[in-house]
Amino acid sequence: MRSTGGLFISFEGIDGAGKSTHIESLANVFRAQQQRVVTLTREPGGTPLAEQLRQMVLNDVMDPMTEALLVFAARRDHIQQVIRPALLRGEVVLCDRFTDASFAYQGAGRGFDWNVLATLETWVQGRAPNDSLVPMGQLLKPDLTIWFDLPPAIAAQRLLGTRVPDKFESQPVSFFEQVAGGYAQRLASDPSRFVRINADQSPELVWQDLSQAGRAIGLWI
Ligand code: TMP
Repeated sequence: MRSTGGLFISFEGIDGAGKSTHIESLANVFRAQQQRVVTLTREPGGTPLAEQLRQMVLNDVMDPMTEALLVFAARRDHIQQVIRPALLRGEVVLCDRFTDASFAYQGAGRGFDWNVLATLETWVQGRAPNDSLVPMGQLLKPDLTIWFDLPPAIAAQRLLGTRVPDKFESQPVSFFEQVAGGYAQRLASDPSRFVRINADQSPELVWQDLSQAGRAIGLWI
């Protein structure tokens, strides 16, 4: 929780990990049980400009650096227009993917330079002058990141025939193994920010684990 009362939670995982329904359920918990105002948003996307960039990132073929620059450009607009204002108003921001996805997909998946991603992260998520949201010397990051961890082979089975796959969803299992490795690396570098949920279970059991994890850190009832 921040000094404004705002709370920023991101949700991560490879495609097919089954985040979406749980994000909705969690929004309802915050609204119904805690009377909190919830901003439910996603990346890439969350603003008209960032949604346009999303269409390009998900559908157009481009080199890894272009992809990285576009996801961070979308993120900058999203932070400025949606995330910062909501946190300043003291709201709960639930974001379907954030910067860990750039490290996992562009960094580990595409093999794009991790250090350049870290520089982009510093630029885009840097502290503003007199910033009441971000302590001195820190970046604007989620207070909590929930990682839905699912073996890539299982995710591929789940995705089979569900819808027309986008550029990422049509990648081979080996790509998602690298992406999952990227998430594991992000968790290892900042373990206190992460909760890892075993997503290789029924939605009911995943929800049970998620609820338990939140209760354990005092975030919801
Ligand atoms: P989703 O919203 O359906 O999960 O799709 C977003 C896709 O974009 C997903 O395949 C992951 C990918 N992505 C990146 O490659 N880099 C990023 O920084 C983000 C936020 C998403």
